[in-house]
Amino acid sequence: MKRYIGYPRVAGTASRQAHADLPPGTYEREMGKEGFFGPAAFFHHRHPPTGWSRFEGPLRPHAFDLNRITGAMHSPWDAAPVLENAHCRVRWLRLLASMDHLARNADGDELLFIHQGHAELYSDFGRLAVEAGDYVVLPRGTMWRLELDAPLAALLIEATNASYQLPEKGLVGPHAIFDPAMLDVPVIDAAFLAQAELPGPGGEWAVRIKRQNAISTAHFAFNPLDAIGWHGDLAVCRINVRDLRPLMSHRYHLPPSAHTTFVAGRFVVCTFAPRPFESDPGALKVPFFHNNDDYDEVIFYHAGDFFSRDNIHPGMMTFHPAGFTHGPHPKALSRMLVQTKPATDEYAVMIDARDPLEVASGARAVEWAGYVDSWKGAK
Ligand SMILES: [Fe+2]
Repeated sequence: MKRYIGYPRVAGTASRQAHADLPPGTYEREMGKEGFFGPAAFFHHRHPPTGWSRFEGPLRPHAFDLNRITGAMHSPWDAAPVLENAHCRVRWLRLLASMDHLARNADGDELLFIHQGHAELYSDFGRLAVEAGDYVVLPRGTMWRLELDAPLAALLIEATNASYQLPEKGLVGPHAIFDPAMLDVPVIDAAFLAQAELPGPGGEWAVRIKRQNAISTAHFAFNPLDAIGWHGDLAVCRINVRDLRPLMSHRYHLPPSAHTTFVAGRFVVCTFAPRPFESDPGALKVPFFHNNDDYDEVIFYHAGDFFSRDNIHPGMMTFHPAGFTHGPHPKALSRMLVQTKPATDEYAVMIDARDPLEVASGARAVEWAGYVDSWKGAK
């Protein structure tokens, strides 16, 4: 945590404090290393850096309306592929009925983010009621199924060949943002013990196991979720976004990394939760323009009014590949220094991936092709 005192350079007309006290009439753009942790430069531009009149070539921002992904899904392994690389696989699951089998991911830990619905999650570890806004970490190898109380929509975020961990919280200590004691784990209760007696469909329970993205099925004449107890320091766990207590500074717009919730091998998952806007007159009240120089950036909009984006609604996802300069949309940019509301009311999930993500078939089908033009009017 210690750092030698350095003496960064300043050239021309410039602020000496990032994200604050910009020269009048300028727009700040950050270029940096290692997300928001390495060396960085802050430019003061006379025009918004997203004020292009045309954008050509394969580097493209994307927006997907996941609400439009339909079709029958009966299993997490039917989920629509959205974005993927060798270390991270993002899929969209929409279940209308309870699962009639168990799922087990042998490719990596799975993170479920429940967007809509509520259900009972039965797993090796017992019973856990899950609802909208829940993150549920399913350690690799867990057998599980969902018994629905209402139709369910969820993001599945696989940490391929890796594990989910908590971020290092540095200066603010391990109990900030959420106390690990807030993590819920399943219980072995009467309902769980009773479900172990349930006969599977046709008298058999199937466990569909995913390994190297291919599905194999183990059939059992009994319910394999039949543990009467367990002990250990590995379990399914859950935290709801309403239980997050986000960091904020009244004088400094914190970078998205301040909102990191989980870290995997080659990506992080951050959560934007409601928080007051900065009150210092010189502090930026919107995200600064930047190029994501080392990370591909994905945001899923769960609820509320996303304060830096125009025309983005709950259930949509944006994908800004590394190298694509982005920042507030024109309507949001007009509130760069003065916000009209006291606080944000958004909930969004961000995935920052160190390696390039590919747009997969499920997302391609629901892409908003005009997204690249959505910054028009920023002049
Ligand atoms: Fe970004």
